[in-house]
Amino acid sequence: MAILDIVTFPSKVLREETKPITDFDQDLEKLVEDMIDTMRDAPGVGLAAPQVGVSKKLVVVEYGREEEDSFPKQLFVLANPEIVERSEETVRGVEGCLSVPDLVGSVDRARVVTVRAQDQHGKNLKIRAEGWLARIFQHEIDHINGILYTDRTREIWQPEPDELDTI
Ligand code: NI
Repeated sequence: MAILDIVTFPSKVLREETKPITDFDQDLEKLVEDMIDTMRDAPGVGLAAPQVGVSKKLVVVEYGREEEDSFPKQLFVLANPEIVERSEETVRGVEGCLSVPDLVGSVDRARVVTVRAQDQHGKNLKIRAEGWLARIFQHEIDHINGILYTDRTREIWQPEPDELDTI
């Protein structure tokens, strides 16, 4: 178990084209474990590999909220994730990011998305998510495409402590 350093804006690795995961081996398993530890320690509800300085298409998400259908808390490991369907309907919500400390911003996101990915063993996954979980997936998949939520908002402010979960 290891807590990795989280890379923050304006680090170049956050903007790079990431490489696909091709080897589902022990090195990947170790990176996944370290990213999960780092996400929980932060604490955050999602983390993408570029945020720990690794330019690869890998994301971990752990989220659950009682008032949403994403309860109980569920852990997702997504290698090579892609959004294959998104609802036309969007919702505006407030996001923060571990790589953009001490700020939040409002972002419009699709309310429902379908994500295709592989798990850490290379098994194919297809996940449909709504609400906050859909927002987290969109935020993290942006990370592996070199996009930050700050690219998608014009309103950024300093939040009250504990105003929201950080992704
Ligand atoms: Ni983020």
